[in-house]
Amino acid sequence: MFTEKEFITQEIISKQGVDIMVNIKKEWYDAIFQRRSRRQFENKPLKTEEINYLTDFSHQLNESFTGARVEIVNKNPEQVFKGLVGSYGKIKDAPLYAAFIGDMKDPNVQEKVGYIGECLLLEATARGLATCWVGGFFRPEAVKDQVGIDDSEQVLAVTPLGYAPEQYTFGEKLMAGFATVHKRKDIDSLCSGGFNQDWPQWVKTALEAGRLAPSAVNRQPWRFTVNADSIKVSVDTVKDTYNISKRLDCGIAMLHIEVGAWKEGVRGKWHYVNHPDVAVFMVE
Ligand SMILES: Cc1cc2nc3c(=O)[nH]c(=O)nc-3n(C[C@H](O)[C@H](O)[C@H](O)COP(=O)(O)O)c2cc1C
Repeated sequence: MFTEKEFITQEIISKQGVDIMVNIKKEWYDAIFQRRSRRQFENKPLKTEEINYLTDFSHQLNESFTGARVEIVNKNPEQVFKGLVGSYGKIKDAPLYAAFIGDMKDPNVQEKVGYIGECLLLEATARGLATCWVGGFFRPEAVKDQVGIDDSEQVLAVTPLGYAPEQYTFGEKLMAGFATVHKRKDIDSLCSGGFNQDWPQWVKTALEAGRLAPSAVNRQPWRFTVNADSIKVSVDTVKDTYNISKRLDCGIAMLHIEVGAWKEGVRGKWHYVNHPDVAVFMVE
């Protein structure tokens, strides 16, 4: 039972949009460096224990979150990717997939979907599975046929899950932009005021992890502002015509920043802020 004073404090916090965050896992830091989008899978089923593990993991994530959820869909994703081939080529032979679903009534839905989705991708990567965020070339109607969706919800992205050959396949190498697809902008150009050698180590590690986040068409729309004990994530001003929110990409970078800070023993909380800023990570 809250006293009146405590209740008011709670209200103020929820209006500012402070959120519950998940338990970061130590394996996620290495997974940031290992993860690569894979589109050609080995046509090999996942073990039942692995599927059960991922399903339990997604339930735990969903319990600590509002406004976004992850569903492991133990069905062949052929219908989900059918007929749609983006410039990166088709997703092939994955045995199952996960859907990232947002409650469109939530004002921070996009960044929340990015954040919760990347929790799953990093966990899957740490377990030796291959993934690929897909926000453009999939059929949300096919996902809706397989997963229950409320009226206010939308499927914002999916990822295939499975094993991929260690080396890129010939087909993957043929895809448009293969040589540059993993390239990332440097910290200097992503930070307002540029890179500062005097930043504490946790800031440097967190920004390096943030920089490596995946984004739609590798556009890297995040910009960072470092202040004493905080890092702000904002959206860039570059116009593009993709129908995928840049705030979703920023949500992915937010998780990476938090994992990087965590690696250096620094804990913090995200505070959502107004457009074009997305959120500020404040050291606790
Ligand atoms: C939100 C989002 C949507 C994406 N949509 C697609 C997609 O529709 N098709 C695809 O092949 N790749 C898609 N990607 C993968 C990106 O192209 C990829 O993450 C980026 O090029 C960086 O490469 P990397 O993931 O290997 O580091 C998407 C990535 C994100 C984060």
